[in-house]
Amino acid sequence: MKEHRIMQKTPSIREHVTAGKKGYVYIAGAGPGDPELLTMKAHRVLQEADVILYDDLVSPELVEQYPAEKVYTGKRKDSHHLEQEEINREIVRHALKGKVVVRLKGGDPFIFGRGGEEIDTLRREGIGYEIIPGITAAHGASAYTEIPLTMRKVSSSVAFCTGHPVSRIQVPDTDTIVYYMVASTVHDVLDKVAAGGRSGETKVAVVQNATCYNQQTFTGTLDEFRRRERAVYSPSLLIIGDNIGHFIENSWHSRKRKVLMTGGDSRRYSGTDYVVVNLTCRRAAGSSSHEAPVDLEFIDEIYFSSPDCVRNFRRLYASIPDRISVASADDLTAESLMMEFGR
Ligand SMILES: C[S@@+](CC[C@H](N)C(=O)[O-])C[C@H]1O[C@@H](n2cnc3c(N)ncnc32)[C@H](O)[C@@H]1O
Repeated sequence: MKEHRIMQKTPSIREHVTAGKKGYVYIAGAGPGDPELLTMKAHRVLQEADVILYDDLVSPELVEQYPAEKVYTGKRKDSHHLEQEEINREIVRHALKGKVVVRLKGGDPFIFGRGGEEIDTLRREGIGYEIIPGITAAHGASAYTEIPLTMRKVSSSVAFCTGHPVSRIQVPDTDTIVYYMVASTVHDVLDKVAAGGRSGETKVAVVQNATCYNQQTFTGTLDEFRRRERAVYSPSLLIIGDNIGHFIENSWHSRKRKVLMTGGDSRRYSGTDYVVVNLTCRRAAGSSSHEAPVDLEFIDEIYFSSPDCVRNFRRLYASIPDRISVASADDLTAESLMMEFGR
């Protein structure tokens, strides 16, 4: 006789939550900026989420794709932001209502991400959770600038450190050191590194907006950087070590043309040649104050998908620099572009 096995179906998170239990929380990393650096697992839970609480360094372009209620917890200027205690309370409040909550953090939740504090709260409250790792800024910066963090015969150890607060700056004895949170403390870190005995010829790189369309890399030696005027780089990483010798100005990411798409299907631009920045028409109309405007200084081409998008774009930008080429989806859009920008 044929044996029939009854397969136990694993309940989905939705069934678990609707079975009258408390909600469920995913503490997930969103990666360093390029929305495509999200893991497939994070993408899946974001699709299932009722609420997404997201940080400052998470790209708005990324969260916009998901239907969940979105709560911004970041710290951009001129907008309300939540302190860590309030964030913990918000996560718990939504979870106790039986919701599936995704706490989405820049990079990886456990690298200078305060994910540890959030799970302490969830443990205390008896709320179920999972942690989904993300690509940390150091890994993103390394890949997108072609600076390997370790390299045979050049660097066999690497440390991740913080540049803030100044009193906590450490200088470990590794071949490569990556400092996070150095926006206004680059010089303090470099002074400590020099005081720690590293040669003035040690190579240094600052990588700003790593993996994003507006990524910039500044390189030099320890002595050169210390002589430069103090500057604020945000968000940025400071990388120290001989591995920086591998950096080239013309890296694979910098070679790509940066195209700003206002609506339309981004697949019309091949990922091999372009970095696509999406600006939905709704966003161009100015949806919320914390979304940083796209910096046209880094854009090579703009694609307009409709006359509405042109008009909304006009509310954000008074003009389009001549150096930027423009393309429009149809004749009506081209007419609107001519009317608004004379292009
Ligand atoms: C609070 S920490 C969060 C780090 C994050 N959890 C991670 O794993 O990347 C914020 C710092 O991460 C670094 N950072 C995050 N995103 C970055 C990016 N796209 N480019 C350069 N640095 C970045 C900066 O040093 C910034 O000050």
